[in-house]
Amino acid sequence: MAIYKVGVVGAGTMGAGIAQVISYNGIPVVLKEVNDEFLKKGVAAIQRVYEARVAKGRMTPEDLKKQMSLVTPTTSYDAFKEVDLVIEAVPEILKIKEEVFRSLDAACPEGTILATNTSALSISALAALTRRPAKVIGMHFFYPAHVMKLVEVIPGLDTSSETADEVMTFAESLRKIPVKVQECPGFLVNRLLMPYLNEAVLCLEEGPATVEEIDQAIKALGWPMGPFTLIDALGMDVCAEAGKVLWAGYGDRMHPARLWSRLLELKRLGRKSGAGFYNYAGVGPTEPGRVDEVLTQEIRKLSTGAKPAVGFTPERLMFLVANEAVLALQEQVSSASEIEMGVIAGLGYPASKGGLLHYADSVGIDTLVEGLDRFTKALGFRFHPAHKLRTMAHAGYLGVKTKRGFFTY
Ligand SMILES: NC(=O)c1ccc[n+]([C@@H]2O[C@H](COP(=O)([O-])OP(=O)(O)OC[C@H]3O[C@@H](n4cnc5c(N)ncnc54)[C@H](O)[C@@H]3O)[C@@H](O)[C@H]2O)c1
Repeated sequence: MAIYKVGVVGAGTMGAGIAQVISYNGIPVVLKEVNDEFLKKGVAAIQRVYEARVAKGRMTPEDLKKQMSLVTPTTSYDAFKEVDLVIEAVPEILKIKEEVFRSLDAACPEGTILATNTSALSISALAALTRRPAKVIGMHFFYPAHVMKLVEVIPGLDTSSETADEVMTFAESLRKIPVKVQECPGFLVNRLLMPYLNEAVLCLEEGPATVEEIDQAIKALGWPMGPFTLIDALGMDVCAEAGKVLWAGYGDRMHPARLWSRLLELKRLGRKSGAGFYNYAGVGPTEPGRVDEVLTQEIRKLSTGAKPAVGFTPERLMFLVANEAVLALQEQVSSASEIEMGVIAGLGYPASKGGLLHYADSVGIDTLVEGLDRFTKALGFRFHPAHKLRTMAHAGYLGVKTKRGFFTY
């Protein structure tokens, strides 16, 4: 089934971006909001993306008009009688999403695929509200949707393979990089990202290194930015919320560091509130923040006075996140190549390094297991190595040095 026309529900941060991407690729899109005011805002946001392209000479004003004419704003579901696919991007509130899914099920032809951009709610549960669970799926775009290439495609328990294939093909037609992910808390990217960020915060809390030292050590490994710069950019509230979802889903191995809630209490939400791990007072939107005393004092208050169990090394973060990638592989959340794609296109890990499973191969699977065992003893069971790693180590799949590991060399 080809996708000739798409519906997007919600014209906020994500919905407007998604509608822009669809229209940019020549596909008509019906954009629904609750009222004209929100609709206008959404349409203006789409227009701004196109205007920026015109200003850079990447498209003509005529093209802008043509692409904008593909977007049909509406406040009703009437026009959804003709859409082949709907992408729901309403707020992350179960009640609202449930109501939208019931309305979509009633308004759309039975062949229409219903996709949700949810970050954390259950796709299978939303599917169960409809008469077409085989045609309900997760389609998780990243912010900003017009820039970020990765789209996680998440089939629910009842989603048919045809639906998943159609949505993968559709995402490719938008010139995105779709990665198929089995439904699990955090899907793939947030499942890897959040424990890694949390470990950085735990390091800071325990005191073996400062915000700047940790950020610099991680940047030196090729990441585009350090964990604290990233948290400040994403928003402390957004990260803490995602962290809670993972804690609920995976239990205490993802227990959040105490500093998260303390910084939330202090309304240090990151760059958007003027301070987070860094202070952004008087700093331009693209300039780095400054280390400030308030944070240092908060860390001191949380300190037990005990000597840190281990000194800081970037391996503490890297081994933890590489192990999580192996756990995801072991659970068949995604294939090895899709995990690597998610790490590169979703987390910004340098493509030249291949991804986290390639990192494991280059460190050596035996070295990774030994390191994780050492961290487990010193810091706790969250470092417990995935059993796949031990099996590989025993069988001589040691990575680059034996020419076979997760990949062959
Ligand atoms: N913001 C992000 O960085 C991000 C990234 C990935 C995924 N998501 C997910 O995308 C979804 C949307 O998030 P957002 O940040 O764009 O939210 P948002 O609050 O910016 O936008 C949601 C929009 O939906 C509209 N809306 C509410 N009920 C509606 C209805 N019945 N019909 C039509 N429109 C309705 C609201 O008026 C609002 O404009 C959430 O599920 C979120 O978890 C967000």
